[in-house]
Amino acid sequence: MAKTKEMKEILITGGAGFIGSHVVRLFVTKYPACRVVNLDKLTYAGNLANLKDIEDMPNYRFVRGDIVDGDFVQQLFRDHQFDGVIHLAAESHVDRSISNPMEFVFTNVIGTVNLLNAARHCWGDSPQGKLFYHVSTDEVYGSLGKEGIFTEETRYDPHSPYSASKASSDHFVRAYHDTYGLPVVISNCSNNYGSFQFPEKLLPLFINNIRYNKPLPVYGKGENVRDWLWVEDHARAIDLIFHRGRVGETYNIGGHNEWRNIDLIRLMCRIMDRKLDRTPGTSEKLITFVKDRAGHDLRYAIDSSKLQRDLGWTPSVQFEEGLEKTIDWYLSHEEWLNNVTSGDYLRYYEEQYGKR
Ligand code: NAD
Ligand code: DAU
Repeated sequence: MAKTKEMKEILITGGAGFIGSHVVRLFVTKYPACRVVNLDKLTYAGNLANLKDIEDMPNYRFVRGDIVDGDFVQQLFRDHQFDGVIHLAAESHVDRSISNPMEFVFTNVIGTVNLLNAARHCWGDSPQGKLFYHVSTDEVYGSLGKEGIFTEETRYDPHSPYSASKASSDHFVRAYHDTYGLPVVISNCSNNYGSFQFPEKLLPLFINNIRYNKPLPVYGKGENVRDWLWVEDHARAIDLIFHRGRVGETYNIGGHNEWRNIDLIRLMCRIMDRKLDRTPGTSEKLITFVKDRAGHDLRYAIDSSKLQRDLGWTPSVQFEEGLEKTIDWYLSHEEWLNNVTSGDYLRYYEEQYGKR
């Protein structure tokens, strides 16, 4: 069990991304005696504006670097005395993994193994009190039919290059525990939503498109089901697991909040009509059914009862409330949204969805 309150220095990777920025903020503000080093390459998905409010905190430091560069990672571990690692850095978007799988192999697999090697060498034969926390996804479990739920015992069955790369990284993390005795813990979480999410993912993409009256590209018939969790509830779960989780264990994290894409999209359209003072039904007209995502998993649903039972975690935000807050956040952060939807984003958008 890691005692983070006693940890002097921890490394958080991918802290400039969506979930990572919420985790960094939580740790920097909640544990002032612990130095937090945020290692991030600042890919298209990494954005230091996500951390503007805490960047001057004395216990926070940002390091720009690539986890694929093994020498750099080893040097970083020599320069610091990390007691713990929370590893979130990843290529995270399924559609990008379909068009460019190798980036996912480099960052998600090789990058993770580089971090494991560095932690192992740094912590040596007495890693007591240290912890390598690997943040993973429910997508490693594959796809459910109409029934069923993913537990920690569900067999891995990834279908996209993204989920295959995450599954591979999970296997490496467990292998380093079993082979070298590295103290590790893994969590597998469902779809997160909230502020600072890059607008390639369903919610911020559709909020932005509705704002500009652009088509809403629904894959297939919109019948796929996802289990949505408020991102700050995920960050709280990570904090709990990091402090009190059992070494070698896996914890599932989910919202018990399943939505068919099309139902969620219609709900968003209704809320957006109200917020933008549009005639009811206006935004729904933007819904456009497009070619399905290749290998599109039908349904995810997470059983998080182990985390609830063992560590007392429950989601705190009701979905309708969280969705309203999320929409309000994007509508009131026009500058943030405009900054991340210029340049490369336009190229990506055209490649993914065609000229519109
Ligand atoms: P994100 O794409 O928003 O952020 C990823 C961050 O990693 C970015 O800041 C990026 O710059 C950084 N990064 C990418 N490649 C890097 C490299 N080679 N070296 C250093 N930094 C690099 O992702 P997210 O949605 O915040 O997801 C974070 C983690 O949580 C990922 O591991 C993802 O698999 C996992 N996860 C995400 C969700 C979700 O719904 N978004 C759900 C479950 C698990
Ligand atoms: O389940 C956890 C995973 O959730 C994380 O591991 C991933 O990093 C994260 O990206 C997310 O993956 P999804 O593929 O579920 O999320 P995305 O927002 O891309 O898509 C959600 C659903 O909406 C999915 O069924 C595909 C659909 N969709 C998505 C986009 C971008 C559309 O219909 N149209 C779109 O344009």
